Amino acid sequence: MKAKFPDESKTIQTDIVLPADTNSLDNLFGGELLARMDKVASIAAVKHSENVVVTASINNVSFGEPVPNGSILTIEAKVSRAFRTSMEVFIDVWKQNKTHPQKYKVNEAIYTFVAVNKRGKPIKVPEIIPQTELEKKRYDAALRRRQLSLVLAGKMKPKDANELKAIFE
Ligand SMILES: CC(C)(COP(=O)(O)OP(=O)(O)OC[C@H]1O[C@@H](n2cnc3c(N)ncnc32)[C@H](O)[C@@H]1OP(=O)(O)O)[C@@H](O)C(=O)NCCC(=O)NCCS
Repeated sequence: MKAKFPDESKTIQTDIVLPADTNSLDNLFGGELLARMDKVASIAAVKHSENVVVTASINNVSFGEPVPNGSILTIEAKVSRAFRTSMEVFIDVWKQNKTHPQKYKVNEAIYTFVAVNKRGKPIKVPEIIPQTELEKKRYDAALRRRQLSLVLAGKMKPKDANELKAIFE
């Protein structure tokens, strides 16, 4: 299987926030943003794996800033690291509106997808070769995030999470 570059999975969605997408403060509802990010990130994972993918975990989401009704939201997703059958996808989110006419970063999130066959069984994905400094940084940190996610899911013993433990030592 030929290795790929993060840019080959790059996926960008630009969309508007409408009243039906908001909470009682007229800001984007968190669940709506999670769904939009899931969709864009899953497309990035499909591009990398060239297969059907399922969301395995949402490893980190920070809702840094409210996104008011009427804002233009840009969601960019790229595969940051591929393991055997799973892929970490890094998502950056920007808003633009009357108060912030220039694109303004409001969120980051990290999702994990698994490529599966027709019976839903995990299948191998291509390796990834990071190119830019940011891609390399996200690639390196992905191993620790994977270990944390697996420990929290009860799928890895904390004593086996060597790279994760190393940051506390
Ligand atoms: C995700 C899923 C395919 C994993 O299947 P599984 O039988 O547990 O398979 P494995 O334990 O072999 O794990 C497969 C891969 O997923 C990774 N994985 C599983 N759970 C994970 C988690 N919580 N966080 C990060 N990675 C995880 C494993 O590390 C493994 O990665 P690797 O092959 O790259 O090493 C399975 O749990 C599933 O189908 N879940 C439902 C997915 C779904 O419906 N999502 C939509 C939510 S509504």
